[in-house]
This record gives sequence, structure tokens and C-alpha cells, in this order.
Amino acid sequence: MRKVIWAAASIVALAFAGPALAQSPIIIKFSHVVATDTPKGKAAEKFKELAEKYTGGKVKIEVYPNSSLYKDKEELEALQLGSVQMLAPSNSKFGPLGIREFEVFDLPYILPDLKTLRKVTEGPLGAKLLKLLEPKGITGLAYWDNGFKEMSANKKLVTPSDYQGVKFRIQSSRVLQAQFKALGSLPQVMAFSEVYQALQTGVVDGQENTWSNIYTQKMHEVQKYITETNHGYIGYVVIVNKKFWDDLPADIRDQLTKAMKEATDFNNAQSQKENDDALAEIKKSGKSEIIKLTPEQDEAMRKAMEPVYKDAASRVGQSLIDEFQKEAKSATN
Ligand code: LMR
Repeated sequence: MRKVIWAAASIVALAFAGPALAQSPIIIKFSHVVATDTPKGKAAEKFKELAEKYTGGKVKIEVYPNSSLYKDKEELEALQLGSVQMLAPSNSKFGPLGIREFEVFDLPYILPDLKTLRKVTEGPLGAKLLKLLEPKGITGLAYWDNGFKEMSANKKLVTPSDYQGVKFRIQSSRVLQAQFKALGSLPQVMAFSEVYQALQTGVVDGQENTWSNIYTQKMHEVQKYITETNHGYIGYVVIVNKKFWDDLPADIRDQLTKAMKEATDFNNAQSQKENDDALAEIKKSGKSEIIKLTPEQDEAMRKAMEPVYKDAASRVGQSLIDEFQKEAKSATN
């Protein structure tokens, strides 16, 4: 008798749990390392808003900003293991996965402007690069801009010789390593979340980043000088765990794809303004002196970094560099 009551109770419980389970939303954990008030931080929030709206609440996006869930290298491992479903690492951070090709975006002065960048990311080369992620269990969904990088340090950086012996924090990119070696500096790979403290305590003397990252991480408070070099670019690849993505119901995947497309347009329309606003705030704070280079000084920096292209050929491939430059050139014509 007891068994019968127990079985009946279980059936009733299941009957109630069934619809509740069916309705529980699909959770997408989206981890990233920057502040919410940055191009990527805002775009992640935009994606959350649109994805939840288009799926009628069937998907819930949990955004974890500022390395609150994982730091740079850990987040890629977590994505592959399925502990997190979505990330947007910079192009410079795919090396630990054994993919060096995205580092082509790190080549000094390879992109004259954001228009050229779009031409490359939205063209065949952009699509080809995303394909490289698949054997690693990752699907690439979109490219999000941040912007151009500036050099900061506690000493004035004007001519290439000023870089001699300066310790720079870099992202995990061999091209960036070669860039600082070409300048006679000492590059050190470090997670983004550790940069402020490393600058403050003198573990490193300087770093390169966009205005929005410098401002939101308060790096300008611990760096006396920022040189407006615009020598390189930081942008992101929005990625998901491939199995998770492929296993989603097709209608949900379509709605998420639409949300991603709109969040991408939103990001790419506001990234420049975010960086301009951050620069204005840094100027207003008066904490760092901002150095502008003359055309001659700019030329000297370009010359000093030229050897990086040769060095990069063996890492990312000469044909990829050629293809990138060809597509970039066709954008400016
Ligand atoms: C950095 O590590 O400096 C940047 O890639 C951080 C980011 O995600 O913009």
C-alpha cells in the first residue's frame, strides 16, 4: 500500500514538475574581462536585452564583466569545458588555443582606420578566420570593435629609443611580443585583470591599450604619460561553445543570431564614441600627460616596428599577411 501511495505521489510530482522544467530558461553565461562601461561591456548588455526579448524569455543571458567569473586564459578553457557558453576575447588572446592567425590584427599600423577593419572582418578573410575555431569546439559569431591602442608609461615615450629597457605588459600574442622586442622593451604577458596593480606596484612600467580600457581600469591614475600612437588595434571575436550552439533548437538559434547581429551593429556604431569620451575624461582628470607625436616622430615609430612583419610571417603566415593587406588596401581605394 505504501508503495502504491509513493508511486502515485511521484506521478503527481512529475506532472507538476514537467511543465515547470520545460519552461526553465536556457542559461547562457557570457564572461568578459572589461568594465560594463566600455564598448564590449555595453554590447554584451545589449545582446542580453535583445536575446531575452527575441526568445520571449526562453533564454536568459548572465553577463559576468570585469573578470568576475574568469580571467583571460581561464575563460577560454572554461568555454571549451562548457562551464561558460559565451565570451568575447580580443584577437590577441587565441594563442593559448594554438591559433595564432588572429594575431594578424596585432601587426603595427596594419589598419589605418575602422572602415578598413570592417572590410576585412566582414569579408572572406574574416569568415575564414572564424572557421579556424571550429576544430577547437568553438563557433565564432561576430567581430566587435574596440579601437586603436595608445602607449602608456611612467616615462615620456616619444622616440623609439625611449622604449629601450621599459617593461611592458602585453596580451598573450607573439606579434605583440615581437613588437616590443623590436623597440628594445621587455614584454611580459599578463591577464588584463592584473594590469592596474602591476602598474601601480611597478611590476611593469607601461602597457598599451584603448582609451576606454585605460580609463575604466583607472590606468591613467598610475601612469604619468600616455602617448597617442594609435599603432595597433584591439577588437574582439564573440565566440560560443560549439556543441552548446549546435544543440540549441533551431528557432532559438535564429533568434540569438538576430540579437547578435543587432548587438554587433550597436557595438560598432558606439565604440568610437566610447573611446572619444574616455579620452575626454582622462584629459579632464589631469592625471596623465597626453603626448601627441609629430609626423616625423610617428614615422620613426612606424620604421622601428617594421621588423615585426618579418617576424610575424613565421607565426601567422606570410600569405595571411598578404591577404589581409590586400583586403585592407581594397577598402581604402
Ligand atoms: C587587454 O587584455 O588589454 C584587452 O584585450 C582587454 C579587453 O578585453 O579589451
